[in-house]
Amino acid sequence: MAYDGKIMRRALARYEEDKQRRQESYQVRRRTVYSRIPRIEAIDKELKTTMSRLISSALQRGTDPVPAIRVLRDRNLDLQRERAELLTRHDYPADYLEEKPNCALCGDTGYRQGSVCRCLQEYYTREQIKELSNLLDMGTQSFDTFDFKWYSDRVSPEQEISPRANMERNFDLCQDYANEFGPRSSNLLLCGDPGLGKTFLSACIARVVSEGGYSVVYDTASHIFSQFESAKFHRDGDYGSDPEADVNRCLQCDLLIVDDLGTEMITSFVQSALYQIVNTRLLTGKKTIISTNLNPDQIGSRYSGQILSRIEGEYEILPFFGTDIRRLKREGI
Ligand SMILES: Nc1ncnc2c1ncn2[C@@H]1O[C@H](COP(=O)(O)OP(=O)(O)O)[C@@H](O)[C@H]1O
Ligand SMILES: [Mg+2]
Ligand SMILES: [Zn+2]
Repeated sequence: MAYDGKIMRRALARYEEDKQRRQESYQVRRRTVYSRIPRIEAIDKELKTTMSRLISSALQRGTDPVPAIRVLRDRNLDLQRERAELLTRHDYPADYLEEKPNCALCGDTGYRQGSVCRCLQEYYTREQIKELSNLLDMGTQSFDTFDFKWYSDRVSPEQEISPRANMERNFDLCQDYANEFGPRSSNLLLCGDPGLGKTFLSACIARVVSEGGYSVVYDTASHIFSQFESAKFHRDGDYGSDPEADVNRCLQCDLLIVDDLGTEMITSFVQSALYQIVNTRLLTGKKTIISTNLNPDQIGSRYSGQILSRIEGEYEILPFFGTDIRRLKREGI
């Protein structure tokens, strides 16, 4: 799992805020109980002093500390029993004032055995989905809301199957891809005319793979290339972002989704940046999804034969065809 520093910092900030909030509500709870049952406050004070006396007796030298410790321990147990009884008599659970960690696995540290604990992972996923939502419609676009009615079930002369049958295949492939995402996944090339659901399916995959605990970056090809350019020429990123960090996010995330390849202005810089992205990610075993209006031959002539051969060898190619859904929606069909 490759974590993105920017997202992790936000996740940690939320994590600490929630921890703080729980501690505050614990303080409020304790103050309320103290004012209703003042004896409990007295008990807590005494427990604190017996605790420190216990510790100092244990540390005393020269005398046998065991009898003293035993007396103190018995006194301690009596106090705890009285406290629990008082609480239950006032209809509180006996452990009402015990400050228990929210996550028993890591004691609310967020880390366990040197890796990120499940509890902090949930915060990371949430922050990542928020980040993805800036560019993708994560609210309404999901595998559950994908509608096949936009794809005709009539086979046109130049295709072997209908747009609908083709989309059913693409949909199943994308859904399986998302559900089974892992180190052994392949890469995907979604190609076809505009308005056929390529970005929609990318959003569906991005959500499910995020929820599986992976780092996912989505961006348009032209924006990714401009980040690469800013990083190379040490320019500032837009809105104060750090282009070098953005480039690293693109190269290192578990799943990179490059949308609308082919709509950017072609330069030799763009050609070599695309090669760097495709090649680096193949070498490091990171997965990539590219969507484009170009067909594979056009990719070869626009970028390079090397890129095309990497894609043909290592990407699963999903063709999209049918009628532009944006147009169908506009025309109210
Ligand atoms: N299967 C679908 N069900 C409902 N709406 C869809 C579906 N596929 C695409 N759309 C809608 O059609 C429009 C174009 O889809 P989009 O994914 O952006 O196409 P592409 O990326 O292939 O150009 C968007 O408004 C999208 O919400
Ligand atoms: Mg699109
Ligand atoms: Zn935890």
